[in-house]
Amino acid sequence: MLGIQHPVVQGGMQWVGLAELASAVSNAGGLGTITGLTQPTPEELVKEIERCRSMTDKPFAVNLTILPTIKPVPYEEYAQAIVDSGIKIVETAGRNPEPFLPLFKSAGIKVIHKCTSLRHSLKAESIGCDMVSVDGFECAGHPGEDDVTNMILLPLAARRLKIPFLASGGIGDGRGLAAALAMGADGINMGTRFMVTKEAPIHEKVKQKMVDASELDTSLIYRSLRNTARVFKNSVAEQVLEIEAQPGETKFEDIQSLVQGVKGRELFEDGDVETGIWSAGMIVGLIDDIPSCEELITRMVDEAEAIIHERLDKLASA
Ligand SMILES: Cc1cc2nc3c(=O)[nH]c(=O)nc-3n(C[C@H](O)[C@H](O)[C@H](O)COP(=O)(O)O)c2cc1C
Repeated sequence: MLGIQHPVVQGGMQWVGLAELASAVSNAGGLGTITGLTQPTPEELVKEIERCRSMTDKPFAVNLTILPTIKPVPYEEYAQAIVDSGIKIVETAGRNPEPFLPLFKSAGIKVIHKCTSLRHSLKAESIGCDMVSVDGFECAGHPGEDDVTNMILLPLAARRLKIPFLASGGIGDGRGLAAALAMGADGINMGTRFMVTKEAPIHEKVKQKMVDASELDTSLIYRSLRNTARVFKNSVAEQVLEIEAQPGETKFEDIQSLVQGVKGRELFEDGDVETGIWSAGMIVGLIDDIPSCEELITRMVDEAEAIIHERLDKLASA
């Protein structure tokens, strides 16, 4: 459906999903994704798509994240820019993408909606999405409020969905890829693992911090606001958690100065890892190098094939 060689997708990542990363993933046989809202205007998004096209002749997607924001976002104009640029795959996330489907469908675009629960996945299927990306509790960013891990969510999706689906969250090696396929997924979607690659356009110190981290180094912030986000555990995330733990209701204004998006963007540029927050998943515990996207995808596919053909085959025929 996506016209790619390997069933490996790079999910949208605010401030990270630029042409450098998206084209590297696509050139390596996966599906790279440009993050729409990382571009300040729809016009800039058109230019970023053109820049990506100059770096790869393979398919790539654009992510449109429809979340409540402090500043209103002209989502319709971003959607139109995607269509006008001739993009054929869109990853939607954040909210029900139904209002955008007629526009995307009439342009022949395949829509992959990212969902954190079975009920949202079934809803996405019922409104005509072509594929869903099932984001388990392990994932970076917004895992929802149900706290169901992929070990449960993926077999559930396999039992109930008719459309294809990607396993997303907590995957970063060939074992994860083979396991996702074994649990019924048609492919995988990764965020955190692709942040820690040579082509990810973020400071080396941020990448190294994630290499050094363990599986215990993420925090779930915004739980009290029912808008949970999994971020890297640093002093800023700890401060947010302290404020959320205080008696009484937490208001976004109480933590706003700590979590401003602009601070997250700046830390990706200057590598000062204690000045803001950034999304990161539990898979940081399994990341111990900074390969190119080509090295990463090839290694994962080789590892998964070896597990399937050698280990599992032997176990099954024993
Ligand atoms: C730094 C970062 C930024 C992200 N930003 C977005 C975003 O803007 N929109 C979105 O739909 N998902 C976003 N995600 C989530 C990823 O697309 C993906 O669903 C998630 O990372 C999968 O979990 P994993 O990190 O365990 O692979 C982000 C993830 C990371 C690591």
